[in-house]
Amino acid sequence: MTSPSPAALARELSNPEKRVLLALRRTKALPLGQLVAAASFSGETEAMSAASWLRAKGLCEIEENVVPLIGLGEEGRRYAATGLPERRLFRFLEQHGGRAELSRLGEAKDFTNDEVQIALTWWKRKGFGELSRVGKEIQVQAGTEPAPTPDERALEQLRDGALRPESDVTPEGLRLLKSRRGVLRTAQRKDRAIRLSALGAQVAALPLSVEEAVSQLTPDLIKSGAWRDRPLRPYDLATPAPRPGVAKPHPLVQLIEEIRDIFRELGFEEIEEEFVVSTFWNMDALFIPQDHPAREMQDTLYLERPKTLPVEKAIVAKIAKVHEDGGGTGSRGWGGRFDPDESARALLRTHTTVGTIRHLARHPEGPLRIFSIGRVFRKETMDATHLPEFHQIEGIATEKGADFPLLLGILQEFYRRLGFQRLRWRPAYFPYTEPSMEVEVWTGTRWMELGGCGIFRPEVTLPFGVKTPVLAWGLGLERLAMLRFGLKDIRDLYFPDLEWLRSQPLL
Ligand code: PHE
Repeated sequence: MTSPSPAALARELSNPEKRVLLALRRTKALPLGQLVAAASFSGETEAMSAASWLRAKGLCEIEENVVPLIGLGEEGRRYAATGLPERRLFRFLEQHGGRAELSRLGEAKDFTNDEVQIALTWWKRKGFGELSRVGKEIQVQAGTEPAPTPDERALEQLRDGALRPESDVTPEGLRLLKSRRGVLRTAQRKDRAIRLSALGAQVAALPLSVEEAVSQLTPDLIKSGAWRDRPLRPYDLATPAPRPGVAKPHPLVQLIEEIRDIFRELGFEEIEEEFVVSTFWNMDALFIPQDHPAREMQDTLYLERPKTLPVEKAIVAKIAKVHEDGGGTGSRGWGGRFDPDESARALLRTHTTVGTIRHLARHPEGPLRIFSIGRVFRKETMDATHLPEFHQIEGIATEKGADFPLLLGILQEFYRRLGFQRLRWRPAYFPYTEPSMEVEVWTGTRWMELGGCGIFRPEVTLPFGVKTPVLAWGLGLERLAMLRFGLKDIRDLYFPDLEWLRSQPLL
């Protein structure tokens, strides 16, 4: 196979390619920024597009050079905005007669306690003033205003963005800043340069004429048929281009919207209820025994203000009977004495089932299909799989003849629409359902538990006059989200990793 001659290659060049070659004709290589200017491109994207076409034809190389940079860390940005602690100490003293007792500095709003320590260390090192003992007190006294120190100059240089450490920043200042924790951070920049290959140089030496090419087809060009005679600019879909930084909903919000749509399509209506509720609704009305371990302080976040919430006495009395002896529901209850004071305690809801039962109490007449997606709160230590605040996807369906197969069918359909084909059910226990099940989905590598479900017990439904069977479920949102987004740590959903957020699809 003979490779095409330089002249043949030249005939096939597009205008942007020719502009690159002409710009490189003399120097053979240019940094991308200079190429943009020399060939009058609109920006780096356009120049890179042309360059990658040329590279594909063997006419140039795109060199990438990673330049290590030094920039400001979190602490550094704060210092750049407010000044180094010792400089702030100096300003503080200036405004307070030039001296102050050490013990007063901690109270000054200008510093945190840690910063007083840091300020003093550097104060001494830089000779910003005196420290002397006056009685039991140590007094800090400011000298004459010190000129900006090298670290302050370096801070100023770095304020507008990361720089090359060797050449762009005062070395002494950099050394000083490096000795403070969190002030500096390393970064990098990718510098691109375009270099002609030997073949490219031969082509570039030929006479190349740049003619007007059509990059955008207009209705006129199409209607008049003029497009047939005009050179059209080809596209290269593989051209590296900057990712547009557009605003978009958080992935979790998108998932919530998707779940909303699924339940709406299945004929469910959304309800919303409060975060702060009485123990009565969160637990008693759901037949959770008053000595249930989950009620203990380690699980439930009880409130100090308000400490209690009003609950209708007649309803509490009715539920008290159910707990004590069944109250005519056919149950024997839990036995013992029911404590109405316990019922009044205010708490942050531990599950969204509280919203379900309150709604059901107000609308005992079926049929009913409702759902909610809401935040719940538990006293959990945060780790890779636990958060003290998370979401549940909750719902009930009630109608005459509603039964367990219908419940499983609804959940099966819900998860199917989210893309999970394989489910399995495991017997479980909740005080308010019978039977009770846990739903697990197949993740492709293992089974993962995603929530609970069951049919409300008569102890829960009969006191509120609900006659039809109530199918109920409460599913985890965050675990589902982790599966969907391939996250290993639940915290990644809430502590923003901007790079990850930017990389998420728009829709
Ligand atoms: N409330 C239960 C939980 O928080 C879930 C559940 C809801 C179970 C409804 C059964 C019926 O885990």
